[in-house]
Amino acid sequence: MAFSDAFLDELAARCDIYDIVSRYVTLKKSGSNWFGLCPFHTEKTGSFSVNTEKQIYHCFGCGAGGSVYNFIMQIENLTFPESVEFLANLAGVALPEQDTSYHDNRKRLQELNRDAARFFYNTLLSPEGRAGYDYLIRRGLQPGTIKRYGLGFAPDSWDSLMNAMTAKGYTKAELRELGLVKPNNHGGFYDQFRNRVMFPIIDIRGNVIAFGGRVMDDSKPKYLNSPETKLFSKSRNLFSLNFAKKNTSRRLILAEGYMDVIALNQAGFREAVASLGTALTQEQAKLIKRFADEVIISYDADSAGQNAAARAADILKPADLKVRILKIPGAKDPDEFIREHGREAFAALLERSEDHMEFTLDRIRAGFDLETDEGRVGFLKEAAKTLARLSSPVEREIYASRAAESGNVSKEALLSEIERNRKAYAKRARSEETRRLLSPEKQAQPVNRSLHYADMRTARAEEGIIALLSREPSFAQTLLASGVGPEDFTSPFLKKICTFILEQYRTGNSVSSGALSQFLEPDEMSELGRILSAPDTGDAASAGKDYIYIIKESRARHADADGEDPLLAMRDLHKEKKSYGGSFS
Ligand code: GTP
Ligand code: MN
Repeated sequence: MAFSDAFLDELAARCDIYDIVSRYVTLKKSGSNWFGLCPFHTEKTGSFSVNTEKQIYHCFGCGAGGSVYNFIMQIENLTFPESVEFLANLAGVALPEQDTSYHDNRKRLQELNRDAARFFYNTLLSPEGRAGYDYLIRRGLQPGTIKRYGLGFAPDSWDSLMNAMTAKGYTKAELRELGLVKPNNHGGFYDQFRNRVMFPIIDIRGNVIAFGGRVMDDSKPKYLNSPETKLFSKSRNLFSLNFAKKNTSRRLILAEGYMDVIALNQAGFREAVASLGTALTQEQAKLIKRFADEVIISYDADSAGQNAAARAADILKPADLKVRILKIPGAKDPDEFIREHGREAFAALLERSEDHMEFTLDRIRAGFDLETDEGRVGFLKEAAKTLARLSSPVEREIYASRAAESGNVSKEALLSEIERNRKAYAKRARSEETRRLLSPEKQAQPVNRSLHYADMRTARAEEGIIALLSREPSFAQTLLASGVGPEDFTSPFLKKICTFILEQYRTGNSVSSGALSQFLEPDEMSELGRILSAPDTGDAASAGKDYIYIIKESRARHADADGEDPLLAMRDLHKEKKSYGGSFS
């Protein structure tokens, strides 16, 4: 699938980056750029810039950046083609005929998943699905809940779903693409989900994107989930968010399992969601932040569940979410607790849920034997380290009092230990800041480690060439005439961009941000955003010569390593240096 450059250009022209970003971020003019608070990381001063001339955005804090397409991908959690579709809808532009094949395939897959969900649901309500229906009722679900979630049943057969769906005109290849069937050893296929109750996973736009299937006894695996597909990315979705997003309280309850969330919903807690059986991801935290400011983590009460809760809190806090952690006494998980004690009791638990700091202190306390002097000292030291991270003196005072009391240590001793730690942190932060300021090279490295430059000086020249090329197409001629080309670049990713730009020009195309966003990975596009956001150097011609010289010099150095005659290469270079007039250092 690919959109034509012309279409991407036209769409981008109708979706001015200022207008689009303004829908999400308040922008203020400063110099030739617009600035605001970055929506992709937590900050108090605006490092997020929008350049309307170049139609790009860039955050100097977290490195996010790119074109209007990248912005929509990032903020709406979409793939590139989806972001194109999103903007086309917004601008009232129809997707061109030749561009709809991807779109059509996606639509068909979405319909297939929906038809499969319908098949499972109808089966559940038929005599064939009796075992599944009884199972769900036995687990306390009401018929209305089963319907609301569209729960279903996959028959105990190798080809029921496959036959039903191919009869509707879907191909086996499509079924396979969604992970609904798997190839057998004889060139055929078989149903992946058999004799399981089925939980459709629905995204926030209401599409069935995947399934989870549970056995009805103790056999393994307990749950089987759809693989990653064109429609489903496990790390970017949350079960039941399609319902929870309607809640206006800006609070979400995060549970572990399908059944927990469904039970919570049935009890009236519609703000419940579940990560899909894996550790919570940063993408999921960002997704949550769109709908909530506070998350109550409601994981299993066992130690595995509590460890997972601590890890989830570590992911949620940096996304600027207030985190509280629920402790469920006795019962194992929210589903079981509600069935035993009812919704009022759970509501009371929610009220009593601990904030993250109390939870952390509890965990620290559990690690020491407070009956011994040694244990108390250990607790005091660990607690002080954690409390020293609180920036509010009031909070430090309150938590220190509680921690001192519960840990059976003196409050004064704890407070003085906290102060000692705070001084140490402040000192470390200062020296880190100094180190950062003294090492501009570090700042200029791409944020993404896999793109890091091996040779900073040359990479800077390569960046400069890319900036010039994108600004002045005529520079492509200068570059070609100089004998330097992308093949001389030391950074693979800058080489990829340079090759692409030259090829665009050679074939008479423009280098628009749309074409680039389609060609580059989002991480690479962010870096390009940084490169293009750098202030333009005054004299483009002389800057260009410098860049070319630096790359030739590096090539000569490498020629040495490659066994060519370095002297010869260097001599040629110095001839050129003279003729350039030497505006480099
Ligand atoms: P019930 O036993 O039905 O109450 O499930 P639960 O939701 O309480 O399950 P549990 O706490 O064991 O697991 C939480 C979540 O992890 C489930 O909802 C699944 O999403 C996922 N999960 C559990 N077991 C498996 C498994 O065997 N395979 C996979 N892929 N996921 C699992
Ligand atoms: Mn359970």
